[in-house]
Amino acid sequence: MNPDQALLAGDNRGYFRRYYFGPRGPEAPTIARAEGIYFWDSLGRRYIDATSGPVTCNLGHGNAAVLDAMIEQARKACFAWPAIFKSEANLAMAEHLSRLAGEDYDCPFVVCGGSEAVESALKFARQHAIAIGQPARWKVISRHPAYHGGTLGAAAVTGDEVSDEVFGPMMRSMPKVPAPFTYRLEPGETPEERARSAAQALAEEIERQGPETVAAFIMEPIGGLATGALIAPDLYYRHVREICDRYGLLLIYDEVMSGAGRSGRFLAAHHWPEARPDLVVLAKGIGAGFTPLGLMLASAEMVDCVAAEGGFLHGHTYNANPLTCAVGLAVLQETERLDLIANAARMGRLLEAELRAIMANAPIVGDVRGRGLLQAIELVADKESKEPIPMAHNVIGRICALAMEEGLAIYSRVPNAGKFGQWLMMTPPLIVQEDEVREIARLLAKVLARVTDELTAEGLVA
Ligand SMILES: Cc1ncc(COP(=O)(O)O)c(C=O)c1O
Repeated sequence: MNPDQALLAGDNRGYFRRYYFGPRGPEAPTIARAEGIYFWDSLGRRYIDATSGPVTCNLGHGNAAVLDAMIEQARKACFAWPAIFKSEANLAMAEHLSRLAGEDYDCPFVVCGGSEAVESALKFARQHAIAIGQPARWKVISRHPAYHGGTLGAAAVTGDEVSDEVFGPMMRSMPKVPAPFTYRLEPGETPEERARSAAQALAEEIERQGPETVAAFIMEPIGGLATGALIAPDLYYRHVREICDRYGLLLIYDEVMSGAGRSGRFLAAHHWPEARPDLVVLAKGIGAGFTPLGLMLASAEMVDCVAAEGGFLHGHTYNANPLTCAVGLAVLQETERLDLIANAARMGRLLEAELRAIMANAPIVGDVRGRGLLQAIELVADKESKEPIPMAHNVIGRICALAMEEGLAIYSRVPNAGKFGQWLMMTPPLIVQEDEVREIARLLAKVLARVTDELTAEGLVA
């Protein structure tokens, strides 16, 4: 049996997918090649990459300049351990990053992905507290729901009850405060009031924990899959910054999904310049799928403070390896050369308008939210009551499967077993053009209409 026949028969054999589906599971096409915003499978079928994989492939696929940089660096030196050698690629990437991110973020700690970068930020916040003479600070408050990664430290700040139930006994789950959802409000409540009380909940939690024990607060400034591109009213960001200052906490922005230009600014933090975080975590789009890359950005001042007290007690084998840094640098250069941050802002506005047009006609789309090319639509059984579609109907799974039939590749899953709602991310590569945005929207509308028909026939949608 060739690989395609095996998958058509639902045979997962030695595939990675077997961990999730067992030896026999849902079919999946075999990737043959990818270029621009498209994938082709081994049977020659084409799919639009509507979500950049899991919000990763910012430059689309097959960017020639990045591939050239990869080969050039690989020929020079793929690997040289940073304790023994400095690399030009590391320095050049750091300088480029600091120009785009801002001068307070001039010291990237270079790792292989989002979870490692979050772990780095948690440990760095703890060591920084010790270094400035406040060793009682170790707790990191986060939001519920939230996603910060799959490793146990990152899972401790992740707000997901399903993960907590299984892995809770193995880790020290950190305190949580409510995420500032504004889609479902109490009667008479405004989004601003909800945002204010969500920020106030942070102050109360710090008081409850004992302010002298809290090292940091971590949040996604624009939500990822855990909240469906949740974006709070502006006052939330100011209030959170002010609370962190008041109690002497570090503010960490997890920009694994929202950073690297996707929101229409290089950092999502740049949308709220008056509320700058102390540490920023990047991954996904910063390596853009060309290399496993994650970063914690910190100021040289903070880094030197930790270094002066004996140095950062944290590291990985692949830290700042020259190949990854060279590819990361090429991704940044291409992001600028192709003016992709401005394109993300422009195409984001178009995508949002297209999604709002879909919402106007689709009985199961209750909300559209996000910024730039980080957009999401929330699915409901009833727009008036905002009642979610019962999980048993697997609406997200059905949409993703039908979308594949239509040639639209969508990454999605339902966080927190659907307790806070169900949504679909719409996050195409930053190279996407106007006609492609319209095509994504046309196919999505078609898929949603098919699913709505099925749900209506099942008596779920009036
Ligand atoms: C906001 C956020 N933080 C952290 C992570 C973990 O990143 P990785 O999967 O690269 O470890 C993710 C992954 O989806 C994420 O969305």
